[in-house]
Amino acid sequence: MRSTTVSQSPSSVAQAEPLLEVQSVTRSFGGVRALTGASLAVPRGRICGLIGPNGSGKTTLFNIITGYERADAGRVRLDGKEVTGLAPERIFAMGVGRTFQITRIFARLSVLDNMLIATQRRERWWRSMLRGAGSAEEVERAMELLRFVGLAGHARALAGELSYGQRKLLELAYVLVADPELLMLDEPAGGVNPTLIGQLAERIRELNEQGKTFLIVEHNMELVMSLCDQVSVMSFGSVVVTGPPEEVRADPRVLEAYLGLDDEEDDLVESGGGTSGGR
Ligand SMILES: Nc1ncnc2c1ncn2[C@@H]1O[C@H](COP(=O)(O)OP(=O)(O)OP(=O)(O)O)[C@@H](O)[C@H]1O
Ligand SMILES: [Mg+2]
Repeated sequence: MRSTTVSQSPSSVAQAEPLLEVQSVTRSFGGVRALTGASLAVPRGRICGLIGPNGSGKTTLFNIITGYERADAGRVRLDGKEVTGLAPERIFAMGVGRTFQITRIFARLSVLDNMLIATQRRERWWRSMLRGAGSAEEVERAMELLRFVGLAGHARALAGELSYGQRKLLELAYVLVADPELLMLDEPAGGVNPTLIGQLAERIRELNEQGKTFLIVEHNMELVMSLCDQVSVMSFGSVVVTGPPEEVRADPRVLEAYLGLDDEEDDLVESGGGTSGGR
């Protein structure tokens, strides 16, 4: 459970206007209706969870919010501003950092160089690599973030040599370089060992106490229920329930969302690695 100090800190008091607001978003891929009118509000300063069975549309919703996919209909507002259809770099520049279900790190570059690419994200990364990326301050900042996620000792290692969980932590450090206000994490704990999951949860809490808002897609129910202030449940392309974790856990519509799938095996995961499928 979250400590009361978190909700009392001035930066994390929810304001009337949500930081992120998604309204009736639809998206089809050929005959597949991935989103069927998804709506969601993420209050500022909160840790919000987004759960739902495999294929219910969570990643597609993330892709639309962050500009990687276009919505067929509906709108996305960030801090009250319409951002529907903007390119990923624009959304990123507006303070939205996101990680991917399948990590997107450069396996053949060192951990530190991956971080320096993030610091140089506004110019072409190969240009910055050519001119010998990284001023002393950039390297120091990158190392500070690597220390924060527990990867400083691996700074010179190739990113491809990191364990799966360490790659997820590197991705978190990578998005933190831009100091985003909203962090959207797609299955941060999927396939990650319990020790690193604990470390990840601690880092998320700490960042939240510093005022950062989170939207987290995750199959690990233990993590979601212990970390989140608010949980939304997706089923067949729309959000069917939103509420505090303990209410959501007891809501019959949630069980229905999961068990309504006939021969699927993706039951609620009570602990451990999660069921990481898809992209
Ligand atoms: N680019 C695409 N082309 C075709 N179909 C797609 C595409 N992206 C998503 N889909 C389909 O849309 C539906 C929703 O997929 P999505 O990846 O958003 O689900 P998810 O909730 O993230 O699932 P998971 O928990 O397995 O990651 C699925 O039926 C998926 O196959
Ligand atoms: Mg997904």
